[in-house]
Amino acid sequence: MESVNTPTGDDALKTAKRLIKETIPKRKKIITASIVCMVGVSVFTAALAYTTKLIVNDVFVAKDAGAAIEVAIIVIFVSFSKSLFHYGNAVLQTVLNRSISSFYQKEAFQKTLRREISFFNGKHASDHMAQIRLYGMAAGQAVTAICSRFLTEVLTLVALFVVMFLQDALMTLYSIVIIPIIFGLVSFLSRKIRKVAKEETDLSGHYFAAGSEALAGVRTVKSYNLERKSIEKFNSSVDALEDRIFGISKVTAATHPIMEFLGGLVLGVFVIYAAWQTITYGKTPGEFTAFITAFLLAYQPASKISKLWVELQKSLTQSFFMFRLIDTKPKSVSCGNKSLQSGNGSVNFSDVSFGYENDEVSIDKVSFNLEPGDKVAIVGKSGAGKSTLVDLILGFYSPTDGMIEIGSMDISSISPMYLKNHIAFISQDVFLFDDTIEENIKDGFASASHEEIIAAVKSAQVDGFAEDFPLGLQTRVGANGSNLSGGQKQRVAIARGLLKRASIYIFDEATSALDVENEREIMTALLETLKNETVIFVTHRPALFEYVDKVLMLEKGKVVGFDEPSKIDKTSTKFRELFGVLQ
Ligand SMILES: Nc1ncnc2c1ncn2[C@@H]1O[C@H](COP(=O)(O)OP(=O)(O)OP(=O)(O)O)[C@@H](O)[C@H]1O
Ligand SMILES: [Mg+2]
Repeated sequence: MESVNTPTGDDALKTAKRLIKETIPKRKKIITASIVCMVGVSVFTAALAYTTKLIVNDVFVAKDAGAAIEVAIIVIFVSFSKSLFHYGNAVLQTVLNRSISSFYQKEAFQKTLRREISFFNGKHASDHMAQIRLYGMAAGQAVTAICSRFLTEVLTLVALFVVMFLQDALMTLYSIVIIPIIFGLVSFLSRKIRKVAKEETDLSGHYFAAGSEALAGVRTVKSYNLERKSIEKFNSSVDALEDRIFGISKVTAATHPIMEFLGGLVLGVFVIYAAWQTITYGKTPGEFTAFITAFLLAYQPASKISKLWVELQKSLTQSFFMFRLIDTKPKSVSCGNKSLQSGNGSVNFSDVSFGYENDEVSIDKVSFNLEPGDKVAIVGKSGAGKSTLVDLILGFYSPTDGMIEIGSMDISSISPMYLKNHIAFISQDVFLFDDTIEENIKDGFASASHEEIIAAVKSAQVDGFAEDFPLGLQTRVGANGSNLSGGQKQRVAIARGLLKRASIYIFDEATSALDVENEREIMTALLETLKNETVIFVTHRPALFEYVDKVLMLEKGKVVGFDEPSKIDKTSTKFRELFGVLQ
């Protein structure tokens, strides 16, 4: 899990550089159009300020009615052009923002999904989703702020300063004096923002997790009268998030009034100066009007820049953590590039030990050998390490000690793709996509022929219940198979596994939700189909022993029996304790 440290100003700069490098070169057209609009906005805003000089001097001071029409036409043209460019700029900003957000959301989702299994332990799926969404949005906002919103304001500010300078150089220099004050203030607020921005990401994750946890487990919540507890949990995460958002907006909102006050200060001094200049040196009122208008107009971009800068720190902080997620390489057991010879379903454990992140040992010096075509049952009390053993075979974790060989090759030298294709895993908690039964089965092997699908459907006895549905195999299973019963879901999962044409099949209590008769039929069909493949059943049911060649018994991570089913009750006392003497 990522540490919760706050990125420094240097990290923020690096993040900004990387964001630009990764996104801008691919979006040259949008950027070019944006620049045209930005220049348009700034030039016409400055021109608008300049027109006030014409209004005052040419129309009012000169009392010239003819010039009034001319000036009016200029004013209308300038403000229309300004609005037009403004509109174009706003649209392009949205386009840029959305395209970058979705790019990084896709990237972050892909990287998250490819992470190792242990990355997902103890964290809700919605927690990850909230992060991915927020990260992508932050990246979009950051790039838009830097490349468009910021630039628009800076260009406008520069153009207005040019107008001011042309009217009165001394006063312009005086107004520039406040810039360092603004700068100091903004950098102080930036540091504060970077600190709270990370917390906002975490808290919005908790918010989604608390809500979806209760909604996903709604049956349990209702049957145990846990509504109040779930509501309280959700409420407190909403409150915590609100608190953070409030903290952030307190900081960003402070920039505007402070800027306003500083502006007022300059304006006050200017009024006195202007009066003195007009009276003593006879400057025209038009020049001062143009100056004041430019100054007042410059105000908006200046205050926007400082607000944007503070907001940018938040987006950059979140983007910084997004890059950390994107850059972390998945820790995979098999990270070699060797292929596996299909059909070689041997599994060999030599002195394999493994513990999760806590110090307890879940697999303790386990050694056994399965030849291709072996059928084995793994038994043991709950928590003995059966599922952990299976996860090791699947390459979800790497052993802390010892060596695992799959298909006579060291698991760490096998390419992950080959390893996953070599093994079919049918787990106890079946997962189905919200699609038709047939599509779910086809996930086992996308280019399977119709005949192959039907064969898998028959072996897994899916036809037994699918026939009763009006749409048959085209029936939608609902979100995670919620329209099917537990046993029906298991049968679809078995059919999906059978279609995979793997060399090793692992069933982790995959028939636990089936009735005895159904289980027997499926087991017979399964073993008929999987004659040459290695098959591992993790089970609590002695009824399955009649289908296997060997039984492997685990206790507290150790092998305490490994023999034929007819002998193991004699050779393993631990086995006898758990199952008694087999008939
Ligand atoms: N993600 C995890 N993090 C830490 N410890 C874990 C994790 N998963 C399992 N364990 C621990 O590892 C040990 C073995 O668990 P495992 O799930 O392999 O048992 P099991 O034999 O499959 O049990 P069951 O029959 O109940 O499915 C247990 O003590 C368990 O608490
Ligand atoms: Mg288990």
